[in-house]
Amino acid sequence: MPQSKKTGPDLSAKLLAWYDRHRRVLPWRAPKGARAEPYHVWLSEIMLQQTTVQAVGSYYRKFLERWPTVNALAAAREDDVLAAWAGLGYYARARNLHAAAKCVSGEMGGRFPATAEALRALPGVGAYTAGAIAAIAYDERQAAMDANAERVLARLYAVATPMPKAKAALHGHAMALVPKRAGDFAQALMDLGSAICTPKRPACSNCPWEHACLARKKGVQETLPVKAPKAVRPLKRGAAFVARDPAGAILLVKRPAKGLLASMLEPPQGPWSERFPSAAETQTLAPFRAEWKKRAGLVRHGFTHFELEVEVYFADLARRPKIDGQWISAAKLHEVALPTVMRKIIEHGLKTVLLRSEHHKRHL
Ligand code: ADE
Repeated sequence: MPQSKKTGPDLSAKLLAWYDRHRRVLPWRAPKGARAEPYHVWLSEIMLQQTTVQAVGSYYRKFLERWPTVNALAAAREDDVLAAWAGLGYYARARNLHAAAKCVSGEMGGRFPATAEALRALPGVGAYTAGAIAAIAYDERQAAMDANAERVLARLYAVATPMPKAKAALHGHAMALVPKRAGDFAQALMDLGSAICTPKRPACSNCPWEHACLARKKGVQETLPVKAPKAVRPLKRGAAFVARDPAGAILLVKRPAKGLLASMLEPPQGPWSERFPSAAETQTLAPFRAEWKKRAGLVRHGFTHFELEVEVYFADLARRPKIDGQWISAAKLHEVALPTVMRKIIEHGLKTVLLRSEHHKRHL
Protein backbone atom coordinates (compact mmCIF):
# COMPACT_ATOMS: atom_id res chain seq x y z
CA MET A 1 0.00 0.00 0.00
CA PRO A 2 1.44 3.44 -0.87
CA GLN A 3 2.35 5.39 2.24
CA SER A 4 2.26 9.11 2.75
CA LYS A 5 5.75 10.59 3.19
CA LYS A 6 4.58 12.44 6.28
CA THR A 7 4.94 10.51 9.55
CA GLY A 8 2.04 9.96 11.96
CA PRO A 9 3.21 12.55 14.53
CA ASP A 10 3.70 15.17 11.77
CA LEU A 11 0.20 14.58 10.52
CA SER A 12 -1.40 14.70 13.98
CA ALA A 13 0.47 17.90 14.88
CA LYS A 14 -0.69 19.56 11.66
CA LEU A 15 -4.31 18.61 12.30
CA LEU A 16 -4.19 19.75 15.95
CA ALA A 17 -2.66 23.10 14.92
CA TRP A 18 -5.49 23.53 12.42
CA TYR A 19 -8.04 22.56 15.11
CA ASP A 20 -6.63 25.09 17.57
CA ARG A 21 -7.32 27.85 15.02
CA HIS A 22 -10.57 26.65 13.49
CA ARG A 23 -12.39 24.51 16.06
CA ARG A 24 -16.15 24.93 16.14
CA VAL A 25 -17.81 26.27 19.27
CA LEU A 26 -20.43 23.64 20.18
CA PRO A 27 -22.69 23.52 23.24
CA TRP A 28 -21.15 20.26 24.55
CA ARG A 29 -17.56 21.18 23.82
CA ALA A 30 -15.20 22.27 26.63
CA PRO A 31 -13.23 25.49 26.14
CA LYS A 32 -9.74 25.18 24.65
CA GLY A 33 -7.40 23.27 26.95
CA ALA A 34 -10.20 21.99 29.22
CA ARG A 35 -11.85 18.59 29.34
CA ALA A 36 -15.61 18.19 29.08
CA GLU A 37 -17.76 16.49 31.74
CA PRO A 38 -18.27 12.80 30.91
CA TYR A 39 -22.04 13.23 31.37
CA HIS A 40 -22.08 16.05 28.82
CA VAL A 41 -19.92 14.10 26.37
CA TRP A 42 -22.02 10.95 26.68
CA LEU A 43 -25.35 12.82 26.34
CA SER A 44 -24.17 14.70 23.24
CA GLU A 45 -22.67 11.61 21.60
CA ILE A 46 -25.88 9.59 22.02
CA MET A 47 -27.88 12.48 20.53
CA LEU A 48 -25.38 12.88 17.67
CA GLN A 49 -25.75 9.24 16.60
CA GLN A 50 -27.73 9.54 13.34
CA THR A 51 -28.66 13.19 13.98
CA THR A 52 -26.97 16.40 12.79
CA VAL A 53 -25.09 18.85 15.00
CA GLN A 54 -27.63 21.52 14.12
CA ALA A 55 -30.65 19.45 15.12
CA VAL A 56 -29.07 18.30 18.39
CA GLY A 57 -28.20 21.76 19.85
CA SER A 58 -31.58 22.72 21.33
CA TYR A 59 -32.31 19.17 22.60
CA TYR A 60 -28.95 18.99 24.33
CA ARG A 61 -29.58 22.29 26.13
CA LYS A 62 -33.12 21.26 27.08
CA PHE A 63 -31.93 17.92 28.56
CA LEU A 64 -29.14 19.54 30.59
CA GLU A 65 -31.45 22.20 31.93
CA ARG A 66 -34.02 19.64 33.01
CA TRP A 67 -31.62 16.89 34.12
CA PRO A 68 -28.29 18.57 35.01
CA THR A 69 -26.67 15.36 36.26
CA VAL A 70 -26.74 11.69 35.36
CA ASN A 71 -28.43 11.02 38.72
CA ALA A 72 -31.22 13.46 37.85
CA LEU A 73 -31.72 11.77 34.47
CA ALA A 74 -31.76 8.35 36.11
CA ALA A 75 -34.57 9.52 38.43
CA ALA A 76 -36.73 10.80 35.53
CA ARG A 77 -39.86 9.00 34.32
CA GLU A 78 -39.31 7.19 31.01
CA ASP A 79 -42.34 8.93 29.46
CA ASP A 80 -40.78 12.32 30.29
CA VAL A 81 -37.48 11.30 28.67
CA LEU A 82 -39.31 10.06 25.55
CA ALA A 83 -41.35 13.29 25.41
CA ALA A 84 -38.20 15.44 25.68
CA TRP A 85 -36.59 13.32 22.95
CA ALA A 86 -39.60 13.55 20.57
CA GLY A 87 -38.47 14.88 17.18
CA LEU A 88 -34.88 13.56 17.38
CA GLY A 89 -35.84 10.16 15.93
CA TYR A 90 -34.48 6.66 16.55
CA TYR A 91 -36.30 6.43 19.87
CA ALA A 92 -34.48 3.32 21.05
CA ARG A 93 -31.69 5.81 21.78
CA ALA A 94 -33.87 7.58 24.35
CA ARG A 95 -34.78 4.34 26.11
CA ASN A 96 -31.13 3.24 26.12
CA LEU A 97 -30.09 6.67 27.37
CA HIS A 98 -32.42 6.33 30.32
CA ALA A 99 -31.33 2.74 31.00
CA ALA A 100 -27.64 3.74 30.87
CA ALA A 101 -28.26 6.68 33.23
CA LYS A 102 -29.89 4.28 35.71
CA CYS A 103 -26.93 1.94 35.39
CA VAL A 104 -24.32 4.70 35.99
CA SER A 105 -26.33 6.22 38.81
CA GLY A 106 -27.35 2.96 40.49
CA GLU A 107 -24.34 0.70 40.00
CA MET A 108 -21.41 3.04 39.44
CA GLY A 109 -22.00 5.71 42.07
CA GLY A 110 -22.91 8.29 39.42
CA ARG A 111 -19.48 8.12 37.75
CA PHE A 112 -19.10 7.16 34.10
CA PRO A 113 -16.63 4.37 33.29
CA ALA A 114 -13.30 5.87 32.15
CA THR A 115 -12.29 3.47 29.38
CA ALA A 116 -13.79 2.67 25.99
CA GLU A 117 -13.98 -1.00 26.93
CA ALA A 118 -15.97 -0.34 30.10
CA LEU A 119 -18.16 2.29 28.42
CA ARG A 120 -19.27 -0.31 25.86
CA ALA A 121 -21.12 -2.18 28.60
CA LEU A 122 -23.64 0.69 28.81
CA PRO A 123 -26.89 0.35 26.81
CA GLY A 124 -26.70 2.33 23.56
CA VAL A 125 -22.91 2.69 23.58
CA GLY A 126 -21.29 0.95 20.59
CA ALA A 127 -17.71 0.98 19.34
CA TYR A 128 -17.90 4.47 17.83
CA THR A 129 -19.56 6.12 20.82
CA ALA A 130 -17.30 4.37 23.34
CA GLY A 131 -14.22 5.58 21.42
CA ALA A 132 -15.59 9.12 21.17
CA ILE A 133 -16.46 9.38 24.89
CA ALA A 134 -13.18 7.79 26.07
CA ALA A 135 -11.15 10.12 23.85
CA ILE A 136 -13.09 13.33 24.47
CA ALA A 137 -13.83 12.93 28.21
CA TYR A 138 -10.66 11.09 29.29
CA ASP A 139 -8.08 11.51 26.48
CA GLU A 140 -7.80 7.74 26.18
CA ARG A 141 -5.97 6.92 22.93
CA GLN A 142 -9.06 5.92 20.98
CA ALA A 143 -10.35 6.79 17.54
CA ALA A 144 -13.98 7.86 17.00
CA MET A 145 -14.79 6.47 13.58
CA ASP A 146 -18.00 8.03 12.33
CA ALA A 147 -18.77 8.62 8.64
CA ASN A 148 -16.82 11.90 8.70
CA ALA A 149 -13.66 10.37 10.13
CA GLU A 150 -13.96 7.41 7.76
CA ARG A 151 -14.22 9.71 4.76
CA VAL A 152 -11.19 11.77 5.81
CA LEU A 153 -9.00 8.69 6.36
CA ALA A 154 -10.18 6.91 3.21
CA ARG A 155 -8.97 9.97 1.31
CA LEU A 156 -5.75 10.56 3.26
CA TYR A 157 -4.64 6.98 2.57
CA ALA A 158 -6.52 6.52 -0.75
CA VAL A 159 -8.38 3.46 0.56
CA ALA A 160 -10.46 2.20 -2.38
CA THR A 161 -11.96 -0.85 -0.64
CA PRO A 162 -15.76 -0.34 -0.56
CA MET A 163 -17.51 0.41 2.73
CA PRO A 164 -18.28 -1.23 5.08
CA LYS A 165 -15.42 -3.66 4.27
CA ALA A 166 -12.87 -0.85 4.63
CA LYS A 167 -13.90 -0.05 8.23
CA ALA A 168 -11.23 -2.11 9.98
CA ALA A 169 -8.42 -0.72 7.80
CA LEU A 170 -9.62 2.86 8.32
CA HIS A 171 -9.80 2.32 12.07
CA GLY A 172 -6.23 1.01 11.97
CA HIS A 173 -5.04 4.09 10.06
CA ALA A 174 -6.75 6.37 12.57
CA MET A 175 -5.36 4.56 15.63
CA ALA A 176 -1.83 4.93 14.25
CA LEU A 177 -2.34 8.72 14.19
CA VAL A 178 -4.03 9.31 17.59
CA PRO A 179 -1.77 11.59 19.68
CA LYS A 180 -1.80 12.37 23.41
CA ARG A 181 -4.51 14.95 22.85
CA ALA A 182 -6.81 12.14 21.78
CA GLY A 183 -10.03 14.06 22.46
CA ASP A 184 -8.97 17.07 20.42
CA PHE A 185 -7.79 14.76 17.65
CA ALA A 186 -11.19 13.01 17.49
CA GLN A 187 -13.02 16.32 17.41
CA ALA A 188 -10.57 17.75 14.88
CA LEU A 189 -11.38 14.88 12.49
CA MET A 190 -15.09 15.64 12.95
CA ASP A 191 -14.57 19.33 12.20
CA LEU A 192 -12.31 18.63 9.23
CA GLY A 193 -14.91 16.24 7.81
CA SER A 194 -17.72 18.73 8.29
CA ALA A 195 -15.97 21.93 7.11
CA ILE A 196 -13.21 20.90 4.66
CA CYS A 197 -13.23 17.23 3.68
CA THR A 198 -16.91 17.28 2.72
CA PRO A 199 -18.55 14.47 0.70
CA LYS A 200 -18.84 16.70 -2.41
CA ARG A 201 -16.40 19.38 -3.54
CA PRO A 202 -13.98 19.17 -0.60
CA ALA A 203 -12.05 22.40 0.06
CA CYS A 204 -8.62 20.77 -0.36
CA SER A 205 -6.72 24.03 -0.63
CA ASN A 206 -7.74 24.89 2.97
CA CYS A 207 -6.88 21.45 4.35
CA PRO A 208 -3.96 20.96 6.75
CA TRP A 209 -3.42 17.54 5.14
CA GLU A 210 -3.56 18.74 1.53
CA HIS A 211 0.05 17.80 0.76
CA ALA A 212 -0.10 14.44 2.54
CA CYS A 213 -3.42 13.33 1.06
CA LEU A 214 -2.94 10.41 -1.33
CA ALA A 215 -6.41 10.80 -2.85
CA ARG A 216 -5.67 14.45 -3.60
CA LYS A 217 -2.39 13.44 -5.23
CA LYS A 218 -4.28 11.08 -7.52
CA GLY A 219 -7.18 13.49 -8.00
CA VAL A 220 -9.68 10.89 -6.75
CA GLN A 221 -10.80 12.58 -3.51
CA GLU A 222 -14.42 12.97 -4.61
CA THR A 223 -14.73 9.26 -5.45
CA LEU A 224 -13.72 8.12 -1.94
CA PRO A 225 -14.84 6.41 0.19
CA VAL A 226 -16.41 3.88 -2.19
CA LYS A 227 -19.94 3.24 -0.93
CA ALA A 228 -21.83 -0.04 -1.00
CA PRO A 229 -24.88 0.24 -3.30
CA LYS A 230 -27.93 1.58 -1.48
CA ALA A 231 -30.61 -0.98 -0.65
CA VAL A 232 -34.00 -0.14 -2.18
CA ARG A 233 -36.41 0.70 0.62
CA PRO A 234 -39.86 -0.89 0.33
CA LEU A 235 -42.94 1.34 0.36
CA LYS A 236 -45.61 0.85 3.02
CA ARG A 237 -49.00 2.49 3.13
CA GLY A 238 -51.70 3.09 5.69
CA ALA A 239 -54.50 5.30 6.99
CA ALA A 240 -54.57 7.42 10.15
CA PHE A 241 -57.46 9.06 12.01
CA VAL A 242 -57.16 12.52 13.49
CA ALA A 243 -60.07 13.24 15.83
CA ARG A 244 -60.61 16.65 17.42
CA ASP A 245 -62.92 17.27 20.38
CA PRO A 246 -64.93 20.50 20.81
CA ALA A 247 -62.13 22.04 22.91
CA GLY A 248 -59.58 21.39 20.12
CA ALA A 249 -57.83 18.41 21.77
CA ILE A 250 -56.55 15.55 19.58
CA LEU A 251 -56.99 11.85 20.39
CA LEU A 252 -53.68 10.00 20.80
CA VAL A 253 -53.06 6.35 21.67
CA LYS A 254 -49.89 4.64 22.86
CA ARG A 255 -47.96 2.36 20.50
CA PRO A 256 -46.94 -1.13 21.70
CA ALA A 257 -43.94 -1.30 24.09
CA LYS A 258 -41.93 -3.29 21.52
CA GLY A 259 -40.95 -2.55 17.92
CA LEU A 260 -40.75 0.62 15.83
CA LEU A 261 -41.50 3.85 17.78
CA ALA A 262 -42.18 1.70 20.86
CA SER A 263 -44.30 3.32 23.61
CA MET A 264 -44.61 6.58 21.65
CA LEU A 265 -47.97 8.28 20.98
CA GLU A 266 -49.86 8.39 17.68
CA PRO A 267 -53.30 9.17 16.30
CA PRO A 268 -55.26 5.89 15.92
CA GLN A 269 -54.34 4.17 12.67
CA GLY A 270 -54.60 0.97 10.68
CA PRO A 271 -51.74 -1.40 9.85
CA TRP A 272 -49.05 -0.40 7.34
CA SER A 273 -49.08 -2.69 4.29
CA GLU A 274 -48.45 -2.63 0.51
CA ARG A 275 -51.65 -0.69 -0.25
CA PHE A 276 -53.99 1.89 1.19
CA PRO A 277 -57.20 0.49 2.71
CA SER A 278 -60.33 0.74 0.55
CA ALA A 279 -63.20 3.02 1.61
CA ALA A 280 -65.00 0.02 3.18
CA GLU A 281 -61.88 -1.15 5.03
CA THR A 282 -61.34 2.36 6.32
CA GLN A 283 -64.73 2.23 8.06
CA THR A 284 -63.64 -0.83 10.05
CA LEU A 285 -60.18 0.60 10.83
CA ALA A 286 -61.54 3.86 12.25
CA PRO A 287 -61.42 3.91 16.07
CA PHE A 288 -65.15 4.81 16.30
CA ARG A 289 -68.02 5.87 14.07
CA ALA A 290 -67.85 9.51 13.09
CA GLU A 291 -68.04 11.70 10.04
CA TRP A 292 -64.50 10.97 8.86
CA LYS A 293 -63.37 13.27 6.06
CA LYS A 294 -60.47 12.17 3.92
CA ARG A 295 -57.87 14.89 3.56
CA ALA A 296 -56.47 15.55 0.09
CA GLY A 297 -52.86 14.46 -0.43
CA LEU A 298 -50.61 12.27 1.70
CA VAL A 299 -48.07 12.30 4.47
CA ARG A 300 -44.71 10.82 3.44
CA HIS A 301 -42.01 9.79 5.88
CA GLY A 302 -38.72 7.96 5.43
CA PHE A 303 -37.72 5.35 8.01
CA THR A 304 -34.36 3.54 7.91
CA HIS A 305 -35.79 0.39 6.34
CA PHE A 306 -38.90 1.59 4.50
CA GLU A 307 -40.79 4.57 3.13
CA LEU A 308 -44.23 5.30 4.51
CA GLU A 309 -47.24 6.96 2.87
CA VAL A 310 -50.28 7.70 5.02
CA GLU A 311 -53.76 8.85 4.04
CA VAL A 312 -55.30 11.00 6.74
CA TYR A 313 -58.93 11.06 7.86
CA PHE A 314 -60.23 13.87 10.04
CA ALA A 315 -63.29 14.17 12.30
CA ASP A 316 -64.47 17.25 14.18
CA LEU A 317 -66.45 15.79 17.08
CA ALA A 318 -69.44 17.28 18.87
CA ARG A 319 -68.40 15.32 21.99
CA ARG A 320 -65.69 12.89 23.05
CA PRO A 321 -66.50 9.21 22.49
CA LYS A 322 -65.71 6.73 25.28
CA ILE A 323 -62.41 5.30 24.11
CA ASP A 324 -58.98 4.50 25.59
CA GLY A 325 -56.46 7.19 24.81
CA GLN A 326 -55.27 10.66 25.71
CA TRP A 327 -56.83 13.91 24.48
CA ILE A 328 -54.02 16.42 24.03
CA SER A 329 -54.58 20.08 23.20
CA ALA A 330 -52.74 21.47 20.17
CA ALA A 331 -50.65 23.71 22.44
CA LYS A 332 -49.42 20.71 24.45
CA LEU A 333 -48.52 18.43 21.56
CA HIS A 334 -44.85 19.39 21.83
CA GLU A 335 -44.80 18.24 25.48
CA VAL A 336 -45.66 14.60 24.75
CA ALA A 337 -43.80 11.68 23.17
CA LEU A 338 -44.98 12.34 19.63
CA PRO A 339 -42.63 11.23 16.83
CA THR A 340 -42.13 13.54 13.85
CA VAL A 341 -44.13 11.33 11.48
CA MET A 342 -47.15 11.48 13.84
CA ARG A 343 -46.82 15.25 14.17
CA LYS A 344 -46.90 15.46 10.35
CA ILE A 345 -50.04 13.29 10.27
CA ILE A 346 -51.82 15.51 12.80
CA GLU A 347 -50.82 18.69 10.97
CA HIS A 348 -52.10 17.20 7.73
CA GLY A 349 -55.38 16.21 9.39
CA LEU A 350 -55.89 19.71 10.76
CA LYS A 351 -55.05 21.39 7.48
CA THR A 352 -58.16 22.60 5.73
CA VAL A 353 -57.59 22.49 2.03
CA LEU A 354 -59.93 24.84 0.23
CA LEU A 355 -61.05 23.24 -2.97
CA ARG A 356 -60.75 25.50 -5.99
CA SER A 357 -64.52 25.84 -6.36
CA GLU A 358 -65.03 26.72 -2.67
CA HIS A 359 -62.26 29.22 -2.87
CA HIS A 360 -63.85 30.69 -5.93
CA LYS A 361 -67.29 30.87 -4.33
CA ARG A 362 -65.99 32.56 -1.23
CA HIS A 363 -64.44 35.31 -3.21
CA LEU A 364 -67.42 36.00 -5.43
N1 ADE B 1 -20.61 14.06 15.64
C1 ADE B 1 -20.53 13.08 16.54
N2 ADE B 1 -19.96 13.49 17.68
C2 ADE B 1 -19.69 14.80 17.50
C3 ADE B 1 -19.11 15.82 18.31
N3 ADE B 1 -18.72 15.55 19.54
N4 ADE B 1 -18.96 17.05 17.78
C4 ADE B 1 -19.38 17.29 16.54
N5 ADE B 1 -19.93 16.40 15.73
C5 ADE B 1 -20.09 15.15 16.21
